[in-house]
Amino acid sequence: MYIPRKVLTNRDLEALVDTDDAWIQTRTGIRERHIAADNETASTMGIEAGRRALAVAALAPEEIELVIAATSTTEHIFPSCASLAQHGLGARNAAAFDVNAACSGFVHALVIGGQFVTTGAYKKVLIIGTEVYSRILDWHDRSTCVLFGDGAGAVVLEARKGSPGPFSFVLGSDGARADLIYAPGVCGAPNVTSVNGQHWLHMNGREVYKFAVKTVCDAVLQAVAAAGLRIEDIDFFIPHQANDRIIKAVARNLGLPDDKVFSNVDRYGNTSSASIPIALCEAVEQGRLKDGDNLAMVGFGSGLSWGAVVMRWAPRLNDE
Ligand code: ACO
Repeated sequence: MYIPRKVLTNRDLEALVDTDDAWIQTRTGIRERHIAADNETASTMGIEAGRRALAVAALAPEEIELVIAATSTTEHIFPSCASLAQHGLGARNAAAFDVNAACSGFVHALVIGGQFVTTGAYKKVLIIGTEVYSRILDWHDRSTCVLFGDGAGAVVLEARKGSPGPFSFVLGSDGARADLIYAPGVCGAPNVTSVNGQHWLHMNGREVYKFAVKTVCDAVLQAVAAAGLRIEDIDFFIPHQANDRIIKAVARNLGLPDDKVFSNVDRYGNTSSASIPIALCEAVEQGRLKDGDNLAMVGFGSGLSWGAVVMRWAPRLNDE
């Protein structure tokens, strides 16, 4: 993972908008978030996270055959963030493309990468989730600007010898509710000019909250069933880090005890498609996710879109 250095606390936000630390903590669980420096972008942060993932996997960049970047805040419509990362990492034998599914982007990218690995088409795939939402926020809108932060995370997917663990997933979309979270963008839309502010994120938080709790539970249960498992068989659960209240409600509805559920939204806010790989990285570093664990992850967000994946955590290949 890579997290920009600058920290923006709830107290700092009190000076920007009519809000207070207690409201933010009570409604979201967020205490602080990190904000990219002027010279940092989705691709520069993604490259750094990718470099660290390759180091953990003990792989040379040339061994990677595919780079997928999940992002909705990369610096260009094209070239893709993944192409910039492929070059920046020196992954010269890799294909590269982006996936944009907003906050469920990482799960979508993971599932896509997983298809290449399970078919045998590619053996080593780098998946990056990287976002700079600080650049698409209206810093006068207290209902959105307190929620998000910047950062990046990355994983390497590798084919394994022997019997594979579960790899099941559920992906979904409800484009009829596209208006609940949207960011028009300055480049792509026909009527949008570069007038300041037209690219800002808009969100109907209350409706997204209701969607999240219901859909996330359904998606996780479907992915668990598709893996031939029961919810009790899930050893560790990493939900998208949007709001601690959503995480707790989902865990309660699924019947998952606190020690199986990961949350770090208090320190990073919602980093969109970077939130799950950042959480995954911290869960591994803290020893909470162990070899052989059945891992469930779920993302949800703009689209509306959602994605749940169930897989076995089996990180090291070198001893096989
Ligand atoms: N500080 C103080 N007051 C605030 C703030 C703030 N930062 N923001 C809103 N309020 C006020 C509102 O104006 C409102 O006041 P009113 O009652 O006088 O009108 C009151 O607080 C309650 O507002 P709600 O929006 O109803 O608050 P809610 O309890 O729903 O919490 C929140 C808002 C935190 C946004 C919640 O709805 C949420 O987490 N929604 C889900 C967001 C999410 O998960 N997004 C993920 C996808 S993002 C993506 O894909 C890009």
